[in-house]
Amino acid sequence: MNAHRIKQAYRRYAAVYDKLFGRVFDPGRRQAMGIINAAPNRRVLEVGIGTGLSLPFYRQDIRVTGIDFSNEMLAKARDRVARHGLSQIEDLIEMDAQFMTFPDNSFDAVVAMYVVSVVPDPERLLAEIRRVCVAGGDIIVVNHFASRNVLLRFVERALSPLSSLIGFRTDLELEDFLRAAAVETVAQTRVNAMGFWHLIRFRNTPAPPWPARELPDLSLELEVQGDPAGP
Ligand SMILES: C[S@@+](CC[C@H](N)C(=O)[O-])C[C@H]1O[C@@H](n2cnc3c(N)ncnc32)[C@H](O)[C@@H]1O
Repeated sequence: MNAHRIKQAYRRYAAVYDKLFGRVFDPGRRQAMGIINAAPNRRVLEVGIGTGLSLPFYRQDIRVTGIDFSNEMLAKARDRVARHGLSQIEDLIEMDAQFMTFPDNSFDAVVAMYVVSVVPDPERLLAEIRRVCVAGGDIIVVNHFASRNVLLRFVERALSPLSSLIGFRTDLELEDFLRAAAVETVAQTRVNAMGFWHLIRFRNTPAPPWPARELPDLSLELEVQGDPAGP
């Protein structure tokens, strides 16, 4: 996976993205927004905003900045903001999430949905997210990680050489990601069809040294307060 191939993939996806990945990924988006919307007046960054499918879900008093490095995906997000008159969206910027230009501690919370296995370097992405998020702030990740089911694992590994073409990796290991993230995991749960995706809530403080720490229980229920706004 390199940046050029990823941009190409999302240039192709832009026109059909909402039809392919709209409804099917909405449960994860709505749960993530439920956490973000539980606190008022926050400055929130969403990285890899794509066509902005999550934007209508943000509550009115939250100030949202979205970034993406695909011009074509961002154009769709801008159309959505205009169409729905979404005044809580402050800025949509073309930017590489692995090398952000925001100063340290710029946001109260950062959201990354379906993007961790798209970027070439997930570790670098997390490091940047941590840098721009205030200490103790919420970091919400929704993503698919390699399955523990033997058959599915086989299929995911078989698809792995096609990552650049399909625009995402299928074989990213959750444990590797959590170890590299080295950030405190507050809760995690399964989302979307058959629970194939994870929603992980981090607090922006260092994790205890790996592997002294046990992985938090995957079945732990997320406490999602309040219903996300929007359609
Ligand atoms: C699978 S889409 C997810 C879009 C959106 N978050 C959603 O919920 O549908 C991944 C998005 O991440 C963007 N992306 C990939 N690598 C990126 C990077 N390094 N910096 C910023 N955006 C990136 C792609 O352009 C694409 O729009």
